[in-house]
Amino acid sequence: MSEQTPPVCSYEGSDYQQSFWDQGGRAYEDAAEAIALKRLLPPGGELLLELGAGAGRNTPRYQNFKRVVLLDYSRTQLEQARDRLGYTDRYIYVAADVYQLPFVDQRFDAATMIRTLHHMAEPQLALAQVHRVLAAEAAFILEFANKRNLKAMLRYLLRKQDWSPYTRDPVEFAALNFDFHPKAVRTDLRAVGFKLVRQLTVSHFRAGALKRAFPPKFLAGLDSLLQWTGSFVQVTPSVFTLAKAVQSGPAAGGEALFQCPVCGTALPGTEADLHCEGCSAVWPYRDGIYDFRVGSPG
Ligand SMILES: C[S@@+](CC[C@H](N)C(=O)[O-])C[C@H]1O[C@@H](n2cnc3c(N)ncnc32)[C@H](O)[C@@H]1O
Repeated sequence: MSEQTPPVCSYEGSDYQQSFWDQGGRAYEDAAEAIALKRLLPPGGELLLELGAGAGRNTPRYQNFKRVVLLDYSRTQLEQARDRLGYTDRYIYVAADVYQLPFVDQRFDAATMIRTLHHMAEPQLALAQVHRVLAAEAAFILEFANKRNLKAMLRYLLRKQDWSPYTRDPVEFAALNFDFHPKAVRTDLRAVGFKLVRQLTVSHFRAGALKRAFPPKFLAGLDSLLQWTGSFVQVTPSVFTLAKAVQSGPAAGGEALFQCPVCGTALPGTEADLHCEGCSAVWPYRDGIYDFRVGSPG
């Protein structure tokens, strides 16, 4: 296994949940995302993996799953999630890199990745990791930021923006913040072994004037009426995709959830530091959070 992985956009110490969501005037976007998730989530399951879980904004929406693994590179985001959701058997908190998932193959029966592909310089590498840990036919709900959105198209037409919203390459509008072309994301999903099931467009009314003029619930209701159009055209800033994992080989089997992110050896046991018999690495467990970050986390 390679230790050379793409750079990580660090949220360590960030007040993202408070400043962006709780006090950021995004009640409409949050409600519209909740509607999309409800539409795409499977009726239930055993174990769901939430990638880039942050402070756990979406986690309560996964009630139909018996257990949820919250994975994020930032330990402080996970501490916020743990303080909101609590220490219970239901939630497993894991600090790790999406590019080096510390789980055995085909272990999860669903996964979500909301507002996180946004930070992936190598989206196909990240998606390949997600595919590896999903069981055959497991559902994967992926949200991505869409570069071919109405505002970007207008700005390009009026020459207020130099990058084209129509080309397949991602646009990095700030360091490690990427908007993707919908066709490029679909191509990446298929390339790593997913089959596409459904697409929803979300946040049709993400405009300051509209958000000031109408209550969030009203805008989210209208958004809900339009989300289905995502099957045909995607010009919203946010797109939700439901895909299913196609697997050819057998699942690993056994009880282990974790594997060493460096050498791939299965790591039996939980709720203690995990010692890898393959490469002697020790992966700490502190205050309810497993830490599988390779190298020195920033
Ligand atoms: C914009 S926040 C979204 C949080 C949450 N999904 C939500 O929608 O509220 C992106 C999250 O992805 C995490 N992240 C970014 N790159 C990551 C990586 N390579 N591996 C794991 N987590 C990552 C960040 O730490 C951050 O918490």
